[in-house]
Amino acid sequence: MIRRHGKSVWAVLPAVVIAFVAACSPAAAPTASPSGTPAGTPAGTAAGSPAGTPAASPAGTAGAGGQVEVFSWWTAGGEADGLEAMLGVFENQYPQYEFVNAAVAGGAGTNARAVLATRLSQNDPPESWQGHAGQELIGTYVEADQLESLNFLFDDQGWRDVMPETLIPLISKDDQIYSVPVNIHRANVMWYLPDKLTEWGVTAPTTWDEFLTTAATLDEAGVTPLAMGTTWTSLHLLETVLLGELGADAYDALWDGTGDWSSAEVTGALETFASLLDYTNEDASTLEWDAAAQLVVDGDAAFTIMGDWAEGFFKAKGLDPADGSFGWAPAPGTDGLFQFLSDSFVLPKNVGNRDGAIAWLTVAGSKEGQDAFNPIKGSIPARSDGDVSLYDAYLQSAMDDWQADTVVGSLQHGVVANDPWKTEITTALGLFLSEGDVTAFQAALTTACTAEGPCG
Ligand code: GAL
Repeated sequence: MIRRHGKSVWAVLPAVVIAFVAACSPAAAPTASPSGTPAGTPAGTAAGSPAGTPAASPAGTAGAGGQVEVFSWWTAGGEADGLEAMLGVFENQYPQYEFVNAAVAGGAGTNARAVLATRLSQNDPPESWQGHAGQELIGTYVEADQLESLNFLFDDQGWRDVMPETLIPLISKDDQIYSVPVNIHRANVMWYLPDKLTEWGVTAPTTWDEFLTTAATLDEAGVTPLAMGTTWTSLHLLETVLLGELGADAYDALWDGTGDWSSAEVTGALETFASLLDYTNEDASTLEWDAAAQLVVDGDAAFTIMGDWAEGFFKAKGLDPADGSFGWAPAPGTDGLFQFLSDSFVLPKNVGNRDGAIAWLTVAGSKEGQDAFNPIKGSIPARSDGDVSLYDAYLQSAMDDWQADTVVGSLQHGVVANDPWKTEITTALGLFLSEGDVTAFQAALTTACTAEGPCG
């Protein structure tokens, strides 16, 4: 059974996260009192609980009912189905609530997060929303004092014993835990159809150099080598190229302020990235990640680099990891490295239906909820006690890798850089995609780390 990989992750992640949280967080007062009681307990605290302490309702008994609006960006094949499966558990355990699915389409939350920001600015939060563990959570919502501490729920549900000890610091500030992780995703995966590769006479490349040679062969044969989508998917590609070309230590160093964005190694990685863009589909800027993955399903493109929610998508399309109808490998150069992210859910301050929100979070953190959701979503449970037999061959391999590999955090999916820094990087990338100037791109990335990251 899965036991967390103790110190091995800490060897890499804490440097990234702790140093960065320290560097980027203003010395704001903690949002919770030392006793662990959130400061200013919002309306909705159940009567009868000790003064100022939020009541944690046991599963199945929370609250009187009403609507529970849950905000996410899970609308594509696989991810929407996974949400539906977890909703089944919620409805079964909490029939008194009406679940309102407030998912907003747009991969990686590009649209959803903008809609959410507007709602939060109008003081109209949904009961819960999806947020990535790491800087996205801590640097945005916790920083803005928008969330309640969830220490009470972790204690009540015994989650400190089953959630990875390496993940807790990424969802905590000042000893207060601010979200419930529902999964672990891997970002650095290359997907393909083995039969098509055989037909085209190529094999899955293991380095980016090899990828470029393979891509030239495919290109000559009239096959699009690499399916890519809109800007965020190119940032996703870029982070895997940086990892593959630089290795884990130098990749981590980019995020904790000890690395050199202007180095020759980064230049080399950006040049590789530029060469890869020559082999992508021409309509990339108009496609979402799932439409790009569909090019692979249809045999119109050979590879796509995408997080393992693509696994859920391939399965939703009728492909089966057990019969080899689709294949996977670490993104080139990243064998033994696990570029991770974690989807989690939060409890907003001043939420309309607080008991309903806690009911949802209770399911999201439960073994039953996670084992319903993740096998369909294409992710592994955040909990260490998931039922391995429910997970397919790919997901079991991801479970093994999560244990054995060196773990680093994802940029695009919220782990290593806070929103202002990521926004600067994305702006620089947008310019690069239209102008193709590696020197200017590298200069902009170097400036971004000084302006919004820990390089200043
Ligand atoms: C990620 C998220 C995944 C999946 C993906 C595509 O940011 O963590 O759960 O939804 O976007 O939308």
